[in-house]
Amino acid sequence: MAITSLLSALSRRLEGKVALITGGASGIGKRTAEVFAHHGAKLVIADIQDELGHSVCQSIGAQNDVTYVHCDVTDESQVKAAVEKAVKAYGRLDIMFNNAGVPNECKPRIIDNDKADFERVLRVNITGVFLGIKHAAQAMIPARGGSIISTASVSSCAGGIASHAYTCSKHAVVGLTRNAAVELGQFGIRVNCLSPYGVATPFGREFIGLGDDELEGLFGSFANLKGVTLKAEDVANAALFLACEEGRYVSGHNLVVDGGVTIVNPSFGVFRYPDDDHHDQA
Ligand SMILES: NC(=O)c1ccc[n+]([C@@H]2O[C@H](COP(=O)([O-])OP(=O)(O)OC[C@H]3O[C@@H](n4cnc5c(N)ncnc54)[C@H](O)[C@@H]3O)[C@@H](O)[C@H]2O)c1
Repeated sequence: MAITSLLSALSRRLEGKVALITGGASGIGKRTAEVFAHHGAKLVIADIQDELGHSVCQSIGAQNDVTYVHCDVTDESQVKAAVEKAVKAYGRLDIMFNNAGVPNECKPRIIDNDKADFERVLRVNITGVFLGIKHAAQAMIPARGGSIISTASVSSCAGGIASHAYTCSKHAVVGLTRNAAVELGQFGIRVNCLSPYGVATPFGREFIGLGDDELEGLFGSFANLKGVTLKAEDVANAALFLACEEGRYVSGHNLVVDGGVTIVNPSFGVFRYPDDDHHDQA
């Protein structure tokens, strides 16, 4: 391959692909829309925050094919319509990113948790993902291919990080991802999910009630990997890998983007250095 076509293949990894991103008006979804557009994808951004969604389309720019659709992921007719809009506007659907999600207040005692609030979180975080996978599959099965990605969380692989409802919903995203990957593999469709650690987004701000700098400081204090702060762009790049040709044999996977925070119980402290100056030592 000539060097120019190699460089072009690396910088335009989604050239000609069509992607639908739920929760694309803000945070991780917005950054993923920008990264996907940069790599040549045509986009449909789906959200319930219409003004923000339109402004994301505008900021991505007229030189890219990008459309906004109002879509509440808990409403099957709206999810179906969003997929149909992508197919009508751009002729196909290659990538479905089920990213919309909501937090809820983490009440320390289960006896204080409210059934309606529990069900509200599950409706968005897991029923919404189910509907996204279902209607994306409808469009992808005849094409015999596609990549479906959903946003789970580090709360999909460990307890004690978030509320009961949120933790339960994100564990369920992994189960649904695996089941759908088994079913849809026969059609060449890959199904994966992403599990980010804490990212400073409006979601994080609502969840914990802190500003961006304080949030990043808090997440950093619990992080295993030091010297780097997790940004929405890191999650977007992980989504890019699952969406593009480089990830073509990855399916049924929960790609954890957490700097190793969920693989360790820090209480053991086996590798804790005896002093704080170890970074200066060779
Ligand atoms: N920020 C974090 O620390 C973090 C960590 C792990 C996982 N996540 C997950 O990442 C995903 C994106 O979160 P974010 O941090 O970018 O938050 P965000 O609040 O910035 O974005 C979430 C988007 O989802 C949209 N949304 C909410 N309910 C919806 C519905 N019913 N239908 C359609 N859209 C809806 C919101 O309007 C918003 O634009 C969520 O699934 C969340 O659970 C976030």
